[in-house]
Amino acid sequence: MADMINVALPKGRLGDRVYDMFEAAGFECPSIREKNRKLIFENPEKGVRYFWVKPSDVAIYVERGAADIGVVGKDILMEAGSDIYELLDLNTGCCRMAVAAPKGYVNDPDSDLRVATKFTNVAREYYASMGRDIDIIHLNGSIELAPILGLSDVIVDLVETGTTLRENNLEVIEEIAQISARLISNKSSFKFKNKQIEEIAGKMAEQIK
Ligand code: PRP
Repeated sequence: MADMINVALPKGRLGDRVYDMFEAAGFECPSIREKNRKLIFENPEKGVRYFWVKPSDVAIYVERGAADIGVVGKDILMEAGSDIYELLDLNTGCCRMAVAAPKGYVNDPDSDLRVATKFTNVAREYYASMGRDIDIIHLNGSIELAPILGLSDVIVDLVETGTTLRENNLEVIEEIAQISARLISNKSSFKFKNKQIEEIAGKMAEQIK
């Protein structure tokens, strides 16, 4: 039998939704539905093995070849600049990467802009492209708190429904990118396991709305 295809799935709601797509593509692995804390599941008949990994780690597994393919948000790919192939936009997990500020915020071009974010590379590149000097404040979550407490002027963060911003009196002032989940592949796996990877990607593509 041909080599197994190793698939890194992001733990959580997005991963559950995306596993449904792999299943509908004919690459099911029923044991993954059992309620337990195992992290690896395989179906040798279908030639697939799934791992649940932290969403922000998927691209690392794929880039280094511990997984052949995986599913990851475009936000994480932008931030990490991973050396992988992006095979498909799965059109799920959709949101925006945006700059947000307290309502009524007025930009002062004469002082460094204080930007709080998890996405420091994205923010740096974005402001560098505009020639704006910034002071980056790296946070790991609850980014919306930063401008409220005076820790930053603005934030760079993901906006999905906009509820978090609204309920904290913040608003989007600039959009940086549209984000969605992507099917990605390790570069050498794409060459050496091309037939299997193309088959999976093709069957996933048929399901994209
Ligand atoms: C994400 C994001 C925003 C929120 C946006 O946070 O960082 O805070 O969701 O969603 P909304 O527009 O639908 O309100 P997450 O829940 O992942 O937690 P975090 O604070 O750890 O980033």
